[in-house]
Amino acid sequence: MKTANTKNRFVGKDILSVDQFSREDLDWIFSKAREMREVAQKGRTNLLSHAILTALFYEPSSRTFGSFVSAMQKLGGGFIPLQGMTYSSVAKGETLEDTVRTFECYSDVIVIRHPEVGSAKRAAAVASVPVINAGDGAGEHPTQALLDAFTIVNTFPKIDGLKVALVGDLLNGRTVHSLSKLLVKMGKVEFFFVSPKILSMPQEIKDHVNKRIQVSEVEKLEEVIGKADVVYITRIQKERFSDLTSYEKLKNYYVVTKTLMQKAKKNMILMHPLPRVGEIEAEVDKDKRAVYLKEQMRNGLYIRMALLAAVLGKI
Ligand code: CP
Repeated sequence: MKTANTKNRFVGKDILSVDQFSREDLDWIFSKAREMREVAQKGRTNLLSHAILTALFYEPSSRTFGSFVSAMQKLGGGFIPLQGMTYSSVAKGETLEDTVRTFECYSDVIVIRHPEVGSAKRAAAVASVPVINAGDGAGEHPTQALLDAFTIVNTFPKIDGLKVALVGDLLNGRTVHSLSKLLVKMGKVEFFFVSPKILSMPQEIKDHVNKRIQVSEVEKLEEVIGKADVVYITRIQKERFSDLTSYEKLKNYYVVTKTLMQKAKKNMILMHPLPRVGEIEAEVDKDKRAVYLKEQMRNGLYIRMALLAAVLGKI
């Protein structure tokens, strides 16, 4: 594998929002992710053997944490795993800024997940090493959006005319915020925003996408499941509710069943960023259109390998 590439615009850069990517950037990242897929499937490389990643996770995570750690190890690097913060000095009241200043002394890149919107930007403001946003509250989840978009283009290389249904807690779900902004950069998709009224997509995101493409807002998934090429369902985000009674009323609002899937297109794909907590019945997992437990999760590894190698200047 090459160790330098003039097209790499990401050397030393933070990855904070999908707003920072151009269409050309996306094509470049996806091509590098395809190269990383080959590397990962064969085994490991020593491309980042000089480097250490700090995984600074103030909120729970399985996939994002696990795939970043796996990505670093597939590339030959080391990692400092910090999950939950119970055993770090955060438990003694250390600020986010001081924690970041600490781990930049020990590592070459920091991946951060934090419950507050804007936290990754705060971390980046004090860090001298690249910071990657692994989810900031109900804000953004740019690396998830990249792996989701990668999954979509691998199935549907022509984005123009693609009908995409984003379903569930569109108010609080950061993955759908980032994905909708990213997809409109890639072509003339048509969106169905499917949610209960009180969990509808934030106005700022609607304004952003409405300028570029057609959006329909509906409450019933049954109305659009037969039209969509991509159905992307999310869980109701319990941790963002101040009132658990409202959460209890809404938590089973959408459930994809085998019967519902009979109404979907034969060549559509069903996606979920996971974890799921009842939105997709287990019997749907065997459906060949269900990609959430297969390609979608694996693509997270390849995209994150590409991003780490890019910000560390090794591709
Ligand atoms: N999709 C996602 O962010 O999953 P985790 O919360 O498990 O990282």
